[in-house]
Amino acid sequence: MRIVSVVGTRPQLIKAAALSAALRARHDEVLVDTGQHWDEQMAGVFFAELGLPRPDHSPGIGGGGHAEQTGRMLLALEPILVAEHPDAVLVYGDTNSTLAGALAAAKLGIPVAHVEAGLRSFDRRMPEELNRVVADHLATWCFAPTPAAVANLAAEGIARGVLQVGDLMQDLAARVVAEVRDPAVLRPIGERLGLALRPGGFIFATVHRVENRDPAAMAAWTDILGAASRPDRPVVLALHPGTAAALDGAGIRLPASVRAVKPQGYRTTLALQLHAAAVLTDSGGVQRESAWLGTPCLVLRDSTEWVEAVAGSGDRMVLVGRDRARAAAELARVAPPATAEDEARARAASLRLEPAGAAEAIVAALADAEPAPAGGGAR
Ligand code: UD1
Ligand code: UDP
Repeated sequence: MRIVSVVGTRPQLIKAAALSAALRARHDEVLVDTGQHWDEQMAGVFFAELGLPRPDHSPGIGGGGHAEQTGRMLLALEPILVAEHPDAVLVYGDTNSTLAGALAAAKLGIPVAHVEAGLRSFDRRMPEELNRVVADHLATWCFAPTPAAVANLAAEGIARGVLQVGDLMQDLAARVVAEVRDPAVLRPIGERLGLALRPGGFIFATVHRVENRDPAAMAAWTDILGAASRPDRPVVLALHPGTAAALDGAGIRLPASVRAVKPQGYRTTLALQLHAAAVLTDSGGVQRESAWLGTPCLVLRDSTEWVEAVAGSGDRMVLVGRDRARAAAELARVAPPATAEDEARARAASLRLEPAGAAEAIVAALADAEPAPAGGGAR
């Protein structure tokens, strides 16, 4: 099958890196990078680090509001899809690049394959929720990572073309984690970042959701991060450029105890999560990775699409929103400083992370399927 994959953001580059090699072993892939993320640390680094092939098309569309960004992507994608004439367009997740890829393809009658289909936060204020609902309803193949995602699709009347394949990001994490398991990996990372990092001796954080970029929310989570850090246990915040810009715009300064660093590469991020005392995040990807690694995690949101990760965490993953008292109490419970180092060392030593097999399942499902008729899809 000839497949155009549309990516654009950091997590999509990472997901494409988990799938691309398997996909290319069976199918012809044309990679389109919308350019939604464009900084070296947000995008370029992943091509080199994860062996992702260079894109065949890079329209370079980043920044701007949602309508402008999505509209420009649609304008750019349509002629690419017409010229490439694929049997299917594959989109990942829930970003504006996903929405534009799915919509441009569907309007041309090209079947859409949606990876990470069926996730719902049931919060339509989130741009991601709108994007994923539209992509799921346009898709011919809904590749769902979890049972809850399959159930969500069923509740919306989507059953045909739904396949539970597992989580593609788990495939990648399982492949890479052996390279960062030894706590000695912290030394070069710490030297590069100018931080003294020891197992369990820091907290790793990321924040980038739109809901966490308004001034009141930023005041609240910066406060949570400040309260979470101690002189001997700093918070290391890998700061998304959009969040950095929002903090600047609102004139909000991070507490001195919070050590903000640039966005990091995939291996470094996995290493920082594995060896941290705890993770504080609003990221879907980081939330799951911390669950697979077994690191305690406070989610700086009120809802999550990854209900299984929370349910399966043995109460070590907790949604705390922006509630400072709750965050402090939960952090003290899940990552008490006195035992954090022993816990981190034991976690890394005993970690067994199996691949989910999602890449193979997606590739096989696409190979099994006849290209659906133009304009219809399999549903
Ligand atoms: C997007 C996705 C979100 C995903 C996240 C992953 C949408 C609606 N949101 O959010 O679902 O979780 O990516 O990280 O698609 N910026 C830079 N350099 C970059 C990238 C972004 O400076 O390389 C700054 C710009 O100020 C930009 C802002 O970040 O305007 C927001 O970027 P955008 O891609 O629109 O949304 P994200 O918040 O990154
Ligand atoms: N990530 C990374 N560097 C960072 C922060 C995150 O490589 O500085 C990785 C993280 O390990 C995960 C993915 O990016 O694999 C998650 O992407 P992000 O948080 O941007 O988006 P989300 O998953 O919330 O859509």
